[in-house]
Amino acid sequence: MSDPRLSQRSASMRPSALREMLSSGDPPRLSLAGGLPPAEAFPFEALAGIAAELLGGHDVRSLQYTSAEGDPVLRAQVAALVSTVHRREVPPGRVVITTGSQQGIDLVGRVLLDPGDIAIVEDPTYVGALRALVPTGARIVGIACDGEGMRTEQLEAHLAAGMRPKLAYLCANFSNPSGATLSAARRVHLAELSSRYGFVVVEDDQYGRLRFRGQHLDPIASLADDVVYLSGFSKVVAPGLRVGYLVAPQWLVRPIVLAKQAADLAASSLGQRMVSRLLDRPDWWDEHLAALRDIYATRADALCAAIDDRLVGRLRVRPPEGGMFVWAEIVDPAVTATALIAASRARGLALVPGSEFSTTNTYDHALRLSYSTLTPAQLAEAVGLMADAFDSLTSSSR
Ligand SMILES: Cc1ncc(COP(=O)(O)O)c(C=O)c1O
Repeated sequence: MSDPRLSQRSASMRPSALREMLSSGDPPRLSLAGGLPPAEAFPFEALAGIAAELLGGHDVRSLQYTSAEGDPVLRAQVAALVSTVHRREVPPGRVVITTGSQQGIDLVGRVLLDPGDIAIVEDPTYVGALRALVPTGARIVGIACDGEGMRTEQLEAHLAAGMRPKLAYLCANFSNPSGATLSAARRVHLAELSSRYGFVVVEDDQYGRLRFRGQHLDPIASLADDVVYLSGFSKVVAPGLRVGYLVAPQWLVRPIVLAKQAADLAASSLGQRMVSRLLDRPDWWDEHLAALRDIYATRADALCAAIDDRLVGRLRVRPPEGGMFVWAEIVDPAVTATALIAASRARGLALVPGSEFSTTNTYDHALRLSYSTLTPAQLAEAVGLMADAFDSLTSSSR
């Protein structure tokens, strides 16, 4: 029972199993649970130089409030950046700088959803999106995913049967948590469904610039009009700066900006101006993004190779084309994710259950594995610990 003094909205907010698990007991020696960039991905030197310039010059704009829409220079730079990704012109007036893209999801939920409305998500989906959308009182409907992302034909079946969602949220590139990428055909299909049935697509593209394999696919935002495109600099610069952005259709910009004024007045001026200075250096980006893609490709390959080597027939994974995650399915129906997590934890390895990423599906036999923070040698060691954990479970059930 929740405290009767709390609002219903507050009572609907759930703690993160991941955070609770990581904060209880001895800290794990190794973790495949979180989804953070590794320290070696952070551009300390470039940011230190920029911070010294911005603060050393006593330019008040770095420390003063800025407008809720965001620093005008950064909005123009983001508009130019997004125009190349979308391969169509995005005017700066459609860009809003957010305090991380997590805020973008929250603001979109606030301006579009009333209690009882329907919000479509991938199943499994990004847990932070569930955390932002559930408290709106909307009904969250998960659509199953496979290796090509959300099964849009299942969404179409719901729509044909009369379901009328207000929005559909998804990560089209290297989804958190499934690692899957929505195929080109499904992007076109989703864009077409959005126009036909009048719902807004919320396309979260946190990881799109971390593609290390395969071909760039046009975002849904380049195929349909009512799309809110979310991205940011957490995964390509540093999450501590808290600088994200969204590109909304014109009719949604003002409501989102008003909601942002209520939430936090504006994003950090210093963070925005630091990112803006970085965006002035195209050569720096080429090198930096290449280094990041190399880190993630090497780690993804090391994790998948170790699983192939030590866990073949026990754990099924699909090698990703980018991002930080793979979805892992336990093949033996007698071994549950809960048991495997407990046995791994006893060996010093933290894992996160698939159930964290769904409101409807229990995912008793699934896990999300993140390879972002461990070196290839540590990834091999982590998989070895999982193999020992499997051994202990299968021998104890004999
Ligand atoms: C899919 C997805 N969206 C949004 C976020 C939030 O990122 P930000 O730091 O930009 O708020 C994350 C962070 O892990 C994420 O994985």
